[in-house]
Amino acid sequence: MTTTEAEATPEPALRNGPGGTEFIADLTGCDPEFTADPHPYFAKLRALGPVHRARVMDGRLGWLIVGPGEARAALKDSRFSTDARYLKAWPDMGRSAIGTTMLQADPPDHTRLRKLVSKEFTPRRIEALRSRIQEITDELLDAVVPLGSADLVKSFSLQLPLSVICELFGVPEKDRDDFHRWSSEMSAPPTPDAAQAAGEAMAGYLGALIASKRADGGDDLLSDLVRTTDAGDRLSDEELFGMAFLLLVAGHETTNNLIAGAFSLLLQHPEQLAALQADWSLLDGAIEETMRYEGPVEVSAFRYTTEPVVIGKTEIPAGEVVMAGLASASRDPERFTEPERFNILRDPRESRGHIGFGHGIHACIGAPLAKLEAGIALRTLLERCPDLALAVDPAQLPWRPPTLFLRSLERLPVRFGPAD
Ligand code: HEM
Repeated sequence: MTTTEAEATPEPALRNGPGGTEFIADLTGCDPEFTADPHPYFAKLRALGPVHRARVMDGRLGWLIVGPGEARAALKDSRFSTDARYLKAWPDMGRSAIGTTMLQADPPDHTRLRKLVSKEFTPRRIEALRSRIQEITDELLDAVVPLGSADLVKSFSLQLPLSVICELFGVPEKDRDDFHRWSSEMSAPPTPDAAQAAGEAMAGYLGALIASKRADGGDDLLSDLVRTTDAGDRLSDEELFGMAFLLLVAGHETTNNLIAGAFSLLLQHPEQLAALQADWSLLDGAIEETMRYEGPVEVSAFRYTTEPVVIGKTEIPAGEVVMAGLASASRDPERFTEPERFNILRDPRESRGHIGFGHGIHACIGAPLAKLEAGIALRTLLERCPDLALAVDPAQLPWRPPTLFLRSLERLPVRFGPAD
């Protein structure tokens, strides 16, 4: 597409609201309805139409696809690129500080970048990590269960994936807290400038870590990536940096939310918890159902229209920011019976139909790792503490202020045994 064509693109036709009026969804955390619970909000949007204008950040407008079929289709449609070169709607948008990642690339670059790491993430390679993940889980629980009660997020659900991914990448233990702080300030900045500052700190840290692996590589994944070649192909410095960044950050906040979310939902559904404790073959189904019902990632990463695309009666012009509603599609009433009900006994073929790990070429490469960690976390703690209970009224569970992409519990107060 030439620049002249892009400049000639007309203003979007906003015909998606009731009676043809404009409806703008607000995903910036300013709409109390969305903040309280995004699911009824998405359901309301679905009833209005499959795609809506959405306020995304700093007053910027993009588009949100909430129609389940339309969201799935968009994630497989090459007219929705993840390459920001197509972005025209936000001309002042700065360039990302995190190098080149596969999530921001189209084929053939995406294919090449993904291939260079996909062999590290096959179910077989991930299964080989089981015993180490079990050890880390046991160590974390040894430290916290004797206390009688704790915040499960801080002491366990966050620490487990953080330790696993940092160990996999050879991030020294002493740096892990800093590392987590930067990554969470980037995804949920406490102040407007915090994201930028955290991104720069993280970039500086990763640059030094990569240099140290280059000088003196070990047997961790980052050292492997430094050395990696595929028929002579290797990662450039910028690609290596982006890859490390993406895998390290994508690999722990999300998994924390899955683990904490699964505990929270099971503890709020005692009959389902009892069924699981009586039959561990239900474990995979419980994890898939948590992903479906309360998946950590609500909307896809930004897509950019490479040409005008019509969805339903709405035309999205070229060069616009579009997100696919993953949480919305995972509650599709045409695909799931009683989609608004958490039910680990659902036929696994049905619950696996969620798109909480994405769909199409960018579907999550780390899904087998996240599911393995969640399975070990759930089974180990529930076997060790069969009377595990929430130490707070479920209505009072503190959710973090929502960010555009992630929904997560701030804390999950639990008791490890029966109340005195
Ligand atoms: C419960 C945990 C996780 C969830 C819910 C999750 C979710 C997602 C989603 C929704 C996408 C697709 C984004 C899009 O298309 O816009 C994605 C992609 C990705 N995820 Fe995950 N993820 C999780 C864990 C992990 C872990 C543990 C890793 C790595 C160690 C990881 C690495 C990646 C990478 C590299 C991509 C980009 C793939 C590509 O562009 O081809 N994720 N993830």
